[in-house]
Amino acid sequence: MKQLSPSLRSRADLEILRAVAPELESIIGADVLALGFTKNSEGSISFHGSKKLLNSIQSYFEINLVDEVSFFSPSAKAGELFEIPVLHEQSDIERLYLVGLGDESLTAYRAAGAAIGRKVRGKAVEVISLCAESASQLKAHGVSALLGAYVWNLKTEKAAEIPSIVLATKDEETVQRASVIAEALYTARDMIHTPSNIKNPQWMADEAKKIADEKGLAIKVLSGKELAPFGGLRAVGNSSPNPGPRFIELSYLPRLKASAAAALPHIVIVGKGITFDTGGVSLKRPYEFMTAMKSDMAGAAAALATISALPALKPLVRVTVLMMCAENALSGTAQRPSDVITQYGGTTVEIINTDAEGRLVLADGLAYAVENLDPDYLIDIATLTGSATLGLGRQHAAIYSRDDKLAQQFVALGESSGERVWQMPLIEDYADSLESDIADLNHAADKGDYSAGSVTAALYLEHFVGDSRWVHLDIAGTGRSETDSGENVKGGTGFGVRLFLDWIVSLS
Ligand code: BES
Ligand code: MN
Ligand code: ZN
Repeated sequence: MKQLSPSLRSRADLEILRAVAPELESIIGADVLALGFTKNSEGSISFHGSKKLLNSIQSYFEINLVDEVSFFSPSAKAGELFEIPVLHEQSDIERLYLVGLGDESLTAYRAAGAAIGRKVRGKAVEVISLCAESASQLKAHGVSALLGAYVWNLKTEKAAEIPSIVLATKDEETVQRASVIAEALYTARDMIHTPSNIKNPQWMADEAKKIADEKGLAIKVLSGKELAPFGGLRAVGNSSPNPGPRFIELSYLPRLKASAAAALPHIVIVGKGITFDTGGVSLKRPYEFMTAMKSDMAGAAAALATISALPALKPLVRVTVLMMCAENALSGTAQRPSDVITQYGGTTVEIINTDAEGRLVLADGLAYAVENLDPDYLIDIATLTGSATLGLGRQHAAIYSRDDKLAQQFVALGESSGERVWQMPLIEDYADSLESDIADLNHAADKGDYSAGSVTAALYLEHFVGDSRWVHLDIAGTGRSETDSGENVKGGTGFGVRLFLDWIVSLS
């Protein structure tokens, strides 16, 4: 079995999810088989998949699957998993996983996949799952199995073993596409897990460059004097001398004649890439909140991971990603509350609380996109406000848009992709909280007492989107998991990647 360190691009040559023909001869070389079952309202249990294959498995190992699982009095809820020993002298298979498929929704297939992935996490075993059949089930199940198996650490004692996850199906194309999505999620997670003494803004640019070169994407990185018009990015990022902020632009174009490509819809995704958020001079409190802030670049990571998958998925759209990368440090060159800065495009802004840094870097990116990129859709994704987490918890991201239809498309795709979003209102009544006496805008709600931090942050961003079709995603709650359960490990989730990829593919 392959042994790999968790370093970012070492997985590039690895097919992380494979398909194998659903036939006895093809599957008996595995270490483990995973079989899905359900229980109906009368309590009778049935296994999923081709009757012929199930029967041949039963006679090969001389077992009766329903009897075996009934022994455990299963609830059959999604992700319930029982392990039974089996023996056949010509096969390496020593055990079967019998996995509950709950109500057979895509959510259930995901939970079952995650349970299988967790079982084999860190072990060099090959597991073949027979649970999923349709294309949407295969995709949901396969991607979640990879997520459940995900590990990231910098332990020196031994190289991480990685399992091989295989789906029994003839639909190789679907499995191949699911593998691309899973790889993108791994890319995002690897970046989010990387500690901030390693990932400064230049490191973000280096990772983006590696990915761009490998996948054939165009890339442009701006630094130093080139960032003169990006007043928000500079105000935040100059708090850290080494090496200062970076603006990273990547673009994907389908392989078409230039004129045909130019006619395609153009999506611009702006990601918040704060490589560590101390809060700056307005130091984040309580201090315990700070340890999670290496994840404050999860939006930029999701945007990069999304575009990294496009050359393989080949959607007929144009996509540009802007990664707004800076560290929000506490230092002698940090900005101060009461400073006035100039965002890209000329809007002057009075700094209220230096811990509200995300909107400053995003606003430059949004204004740059409106001025230079003529987007048909302008999307931003950011771990923006603790308030979003207070309101919605960690299962749903907050989504804001004036285009309700578009927002509701994201809500629907959230359900089917497994990355759920909830539409929040852009409440005009709160707009006066961003009025400043000395600049065009206050950057954080100062007047009024609206207690709606996620809403006022969205209203701030809206000042910079012109008349674009704009969608804002606040992933402060979903971008990081505080528990090791289901699809997630403690740390970065990769939230946004599945949602964006499903949406982009749906447009073409
Ligand atoms: N990165 C934080 C938001 C955050 C909080 C993300 C918790 C993930 C988990 C952001 O930069 C921030 O500090 N926001 C402030 C804004 C406030 C000062 C207006 C917040 O939410 O408290
Ligand atoms: Mn902050
Ligand atoms: Zn932040």
